[in-house]
Amino acid sequence: MTRLYDSRKRILVTGGAGFLGSHLIDRLLEQGHEVLCADNLFTGTKRNIDHLHNHPRFEFLRHDVTFPLYVEVDEIYNLACPASPIHYQHDPVQTTKTSVHGAINMLGLAKRLRCKVFQASTSEVYGDPHVHPQPETYWGNVNPVGLRSCYDEGKRCAETLFFDYHRQHGLQIKVARIFNTYGPRMHHADGRVVSNFVVQALRGAPITIYGEGRQTRSFCYVDDLVEGFIRLMESDDNVTGPVNLGNPGEFTIRELAEQVIAQTGSRSELVFGELPQDDPKQRRPDIGQAKAKLGWEPQVPLEEGLARTITYFRDLLPELEVA
Ligand SMILES: NC(=O)c1ccc[n+]([C@@H]2O[C@H](COP(=O)([O-])OP(=O)(O)OC[C@H]3O[C@@H](n4cnc5c(N)ncnc54)[C@H](O)[C@@H]3O)[C@@H](O)[C@H]2O)c1
Repeated sequence: MTRLYDSRKRILVTGGAGFLGSHLIDRLLEQGHEVLCADNLFTGTKRNIDHLHNHPRFEFLRHDVTFPLYVEVDEIYNLACPASPIHYQHDPVQTTKTSVHGAINMLGLAKRLRCKVFQASTSEVYGDPHVHPQPETYWGNVNPVGLRSCYDEGKRCAETLFFDYHRQHGLQIKVARIFNTYGPRMHHADGRVVSNFVVQALRGAPITIYGEGRQTRSFCYVDDLVEGFIRLMESDDNVTGPVNLGNPGEFTIRELAEQVIAQTGSRSELVFGELPQDDPKQRRPDIGQAKAKLGWEPQVPLEEGLARTITYFRDLLPELEVA
């Protein structure tokens, strides 16, 4: 699956100490590139990049993307942003600043360097969708003044900025709309459904389902997603996105919980809580564009991805309990 670039590049990954960023960096290093990881470690952790400590082509810079960054690179992946409601609602003003000022700073840098810039956007730009599954042409149904708006509207504004820099300054942009992704190095306590269920099951704690668990989600394994990122970055100049990247397989939250219980062999019970505000009822990507333009579609089935994720958390939990 790994494909080599024509030549070595120096690549900036913002948010590189996070879940997705650290996997992307592994892949870029594997391809022979140099990587500069810029992260303020708000939700990311050094543990995710510990294994790269002595890597000769890896560099870490503690930096907040809401401030300008002056570095020399050939490509930029902009991933910096807290991604789970618990984290992005912790300091909502900072969340919007991270998306909007972060985008302005990275676009400014790309403009100065005349280099390609990738934006990690999100399926949250579709809000609670009236169209199902969601194609890129759907404009979304987003509450502009709710608790999730700092994230949803921040990401929407970032997309606007990317497309205006493209139209106004001829910048080469690559915008990915990422749907629920899971895998090793997810934060163990950020409330995202896969990590939540796996950790609860491994601890033998009750598994908390919001509502009746009939809301549906699609789950993409991280290796598949990273392959999509790289294909999008390498795609023809006329491909700007937004391109949906996610797994179109749709599961109810209850089905996911049952699968996790089965695969961990846990005795956890299911308990039901109240649905959070603006929680989308269904979410599934239409990946027609990614298939046609990038030749991309997910390869890893849920069962296999879950098994790898469970192994990761099994190893991690004793460490957390000691810390
Ligand atoms: N994981 C998913 O399912 C998913 C879905 C849709 C979109 N995304 C997007 O992908 C990107 C990465 O998500 P993730 O799941 O890896 O989340 P994550 O929280 O693990 O990683 C985000 C990283 O950004 C860093 N960060 C946050 N604010 C920053 C700032 N102001 N300056 C510098 N660094 C900052 C964090 O410390 C962290 O390392 C995010 O932009 C997120 O919105 C993720």
